[in-house]
Amino acid sequence: MFSEQQLSDHYALPDRSVPHLRVNFVSSLDGAAWHDGGSGPLNDEWDQQVFAYLRRLADVVMVGAGTIRVEGYGGLRLDEDAQRWRTENGLPPHPPLAIVSHALDLDPRSTVFTDAPVRPLVLTHAGAPRDRLDALAEVADLLVHGEDAVDLVAARADLAERGLAQVLCEGGPTLFGSLIAADAVDELDLTLSPVLESGAAGRIAHGPQRTLPMRLQHALPGGPMLFLRYLRAPG
Ligand SMILES: NC(=O)c1ccc[n+]([C@@H]2O[C@H](COP(=O)([O-])OP(=O)(O)OC[C@H]3O[C@@H](n4cnc5c(N)ncnc54)[C@H](OP(=O)(O)O)[C@@H]3O)[C@@H](O)[C@H]2O)c1
Repeated sequence: MFSEQQLSDHYALPDRSVPHLRVNFVSSLDGAAWHDGGSGPLNDEWDQQVFAYLRRLADVVMVGAGTIRVEGYGGLRLDEDAQRWRTENGLPPHPPLAIVSHALDLDPRSTVFTDAPVRPLVLTHAGAPRDRLDALAEVADLLVHGEDAVDLVAARADLAERGLAQVLCEGGPTLFGSLIAADAVDELDLTLSPVLESGAAGRIAHGPQRTLPMRLQHALPGGPMLFLRYLRAPG
């Protein structure tokens, strides 16, 4: 497994005051973002180590409502080492979860809300169903940006104003596609899993076509996995 020093050398954020949105995904060699509906079969303990380390560095963890539903997210709770590290580095023990949703098809009784050590955020828009907005307001802080679709640039700026400048997005592909369309991506951390999937699984992003040039920051082998870190290309 990676040492703490290796992870810090490869993933530390240079200036926490500068807003930064990093996206983390795992994919098969032929680009599948899931296997049998979930990403679990693509990852291993190396990928889980990096996944957990990126959470440790985040001010907030952004996730699409589809991934919350499919991957069965519960309350976002870091382990004791990560909590200690964060406290020693002037951060609260846990980052909040920020769930992005259009239709607010989210159950307020879900453990993602009831077992959360920090009250989650829900990022939505003004046209979202009023009854669901009211129900979720009981268990989460609502950030409403955009009239009939979530304005992710405005939502990101709002997060930064709340002191949540370092955003880790854990997917899924619809949310990532929207972030690309909004030109709101600063970094992609992509784990290549040594498997060929073929079949009908989707890619890590889908949405309107938009090209964002990126530059390779590192290619780090870890066990059978390859960890690729890309940053937004200058210019
Ligand atoms: N390989 C990986 O690393 C990885 C990571 C994450 C997920 N996945 C896989 O991806 C699949 C799920 O894909 P998905 O595309 O459905 O995931 P998703 O992007 O998390 O979820 C889509 C849903 O999230 C909400 N959403 C996303 N972007 C939005 C936006 N810009 N504005 C408003 N709402 C937005 C909407 O929820 P409402 O319906 O509530 O409006 C939408 O229906 C699963 O199989 C999961 O396992 C893989």
